[in-house]
Amino acid sequence: MTPGPLARDRIMATRPTRIAPSLLACDFTRIGEEVRAVEAAGADWLHVDVMDGHYVPNLTLGPPIVKAIHQVATKPLDVHLMVTNPLELAEAYAQAGAHVLTFHWEVSGGVAGAREIIQGFRDVGIEQVGLSVDGATPVEGIRELLSELDLVLIMSIQAGFGGQAFQPEKLDKTRWVRQQGFAGDLEMDGGITPKNAALCRDAGANVLVAGTAVFRAPDRAEAIRALREAPADVCP
Ligand code: DX5
Ligand code: ZN
Repeated sequence: MTPGPLARDRIMATRPTRIAPSLLACDFTRIGEEVRAVEAAGADWLHVDVMDGHYVPNLTLGPPIVKAIHQVATKPLDVHLMVTNPLELAEAYAQAGAHVLTFHWEVSGGVAGAREIIQGFRDVGIEQVGLSVDGATPVEGIRELLSELDLVLIMSIQAGFGGQAFQPEKLDKTRWVRQQGFAGDLEMDGGITPKNAALCRDAGANVLVAGTAVFRAPDRAEAIRALREAPADVCP
């Protein structure tokens, strides 16, 4: 069933806007200071991109680094697993301090496989289980799973690297998720800036990931404020 405009407003009213700087764009030689700096600048969550060199060509952060981030962080860690074997890695990332743990629909093998991963994440104590749909993948396949998820992550790029350009056509997938009545956290990730943030919000997203737009900004607090308060009439 498609909720009307009033129902959509009610859904949005219950979901706080969250800005989640992606640590992929931080200075890794000073990761603890970078975490403290974006928390002081107003970050709501810390987005942690885990890439395995298989699902995506890039290779990033293992559990020991995530644990170190967790030790200095006061905000929840939003761990985005871009890996082919999320079920095998779930416990290690849960123990490292992941609050949100998100896997990719593309590696799940379908609805039954995704259900097994969702349950596996819950079994190791993950508080918010997320499912991500990558840039090139249609979203409709996840319909049956929506009621079992705490978070849906719609990629506004093809996963793998920071610093790519936002793809506005992905907004249709975000809109579709809310049209199904999904009332959980709806996140977008990839190329998000104050110029396109309002488009993401308007499509129904309440969690915005931003790497380059926060860490490379001259004033990070201003960048986070601008992402949060972007006016609704801007163009991509
Ligand atoms: C890409 C990652 C993103 C990325 C965002 O695969 O999932 O989180 O770091 O970085 P920007 O905001 O620079 O596109
Ligand atoms: Zn990410």
